[in-house]
Amino acid sequence: MDEHKVRLEISELSKSYETKEGRFQAVEKIDLKVYDNEFLVLLGPGNCGKTVLLNMIAGLEQPTSGEIRLDGSVIQGSDRRIGMVFQKLALMPWKTVMQNTEIGPKFRGVKKEERRKKAQSYIDLVGLNGFEKAYPAQLSGGMKQRVGIARAYTNDPEILLMDEPFGALDAQTRFVMEQEVQRIWEQEKRTIIFVTNNIEEACFLGDRIVLFSECPARMKEIYVNDLKRPRDVISQEFLKLRAMISDNTDLAL
Ligand SMILES: Nc1ncnc2c1ncn2[C@@H]1O[C@H](COP(=O)(O)OP(=O)(O)OP(=O)(O)O)[C@@H](O)[C@H]1O
Ligand SMILES: [Mg+2]
Repeated sequence: MDEHKVRLEISELSKSYETKEGRFQAVEKIDLKVYDNEFLVLLGPGNCGKTVLLNMIAGLEQPTSGEIRLDGSVIQGSDRRIGMVFQKLALMPWKTVMQNTEIGPKFRGVKKEERRKKAQSYIDLVGLNGFEKAYPAQLSGGMKQRVGIARAYTNDPEILLMDEPFGALDAQTRFVMEQEVQRIWEQEKRTIIFVTNNIEEACFLGDRIVLFSECPARMKEIYVNDLKRPRDVISQEFLKLRAMISDNTDLAL
């Protein structure tokens, strides 16, 4: 990560909703800088406001107050430079792996040959070569996540948001996917903001880990994680970091 180059700057960011029961605060006063090519992990308990925060970064929701700047300019609405792998992966069941992957450039009117070439390179990168014509129903959970990642990369985002992408996977597949996402990030350097409620996953992946409180999401602490990659999850240093974060969490994560 290049600490001299700030890509995203979040200032005094808050979000509240008007509900029947009154005002509900989901995100409170977040101040955060995200650096170029960094793998930033946002770690927080369930229902704390992580998705609301990501949606604001993606321009899908408007902040109640505060602002988000990308390369110095305030983000207004959705921005092509920011891509998202959604928590509820929405693959279209009637479309093949290739058709799901190329959806972004197709929507923008990119010619078939060009968009297929790009989609194919990311299908290959995520390890789905040979499955281009398969439908989502024919894929395992981990493979569907790979399609979601290939689809996001095919849009060529500079900043990639990943909202608990492996939350629904079994422990073994999850660990494989964590290694995969790290490999892809090392090969195709982008700034990644990765949301999780899993401390071990956060320590395995993050250059920095931002720990959030329970709802409304407030930042409790930022941990710098400079352990050598790939991290050894049973090394003393790893376990120490994990325990330190665990001691500081609001809820059992
Ligand atoms: N449009 C909305 N109107 C009212 N409340 C909302 C709205 N969107 C989100 N919330 C509330 O904000 C809180 C945080 O939601 P959010 O989805 O960001 O949690 P999360 O941290 O992503 O949780 P999880 O780990 O379960 O995905 C929740 O209590 C949710 O009900
Ligand atoms: Mg969420």
